[in-house]
Amino acid sequence: MSALYFDSASTTPVDADVVAAMTDALRAASGNPSATAHRYGRAAAQRVGSCRQQIADELGCEPDEVIFTSGATEADNLALTGVARAHADKGRHLIVSAIEHRAILACAEQLERDGFEVTRVRPDANGVIAPAAIAAAIRPDTLLISLMHTNNEIGVIQPIEAIACSAAKAIPISKTTPPSGFYTG
Ligand SMILES: Cc1ncc(COP(=O)(O)O)c(C=O)c1O
Repeated sequence: MSALYFDSASTTPVDADVVAAMTDALRAASGNPSATAHRYGRAAAQRVGSCRQQIADELGCEPDEVIFTSGATEADNLALTGVARAHADKGRHLIVSAIEHRAILACAEQLERDGFEVTRVRPDANGVIAPAAIAAAIRPDTLLISLMHTNNEIGVIQPIEAIACSAAKAIPISKTTPPSGFYTG
């Protein structure tokens, strides 16, 4: 009997095109992209730069807004802790869902120990986070809303666009810096 894999919300088999691109990069440009004093480093830096540009074009952002991390836990920590610490003078409140990945929940707990307040919005019986529930949690001192797009355990896909629209309407008009939104996964 052939095996069936049912954990694609957590991780998926790597696409053949990705394997080919990675193999090519590892073979042809294995220098340190930070060591631009030699041609091996410059070749690697050129590749990293063009990947950064391609991702930025796809996301509609600037290349220097794309940050590569070693994995999702590091990215979660960078986003939450980075925004919270950089903007602590503007507010000390964060919103996450109660069913975020442990990497987000642990980071939120650490920020609470550091003096921030965190609202954990609960999902409905189907695991869906209601846009109205996020909007209701927004306060004048809310800095950041972090929601996972696809839950890695139950596979539910959150209505991110509706949540973003609803949250945008709930942001107090007088607030000059709107909360940052991140979704991961
Ligand atoms: C939102 C989120 N954060 C963190 C992780 C953990 O990933 P990593 O092992 O790359 O740190 C996952 C993995 O599914 C995830 O979905």
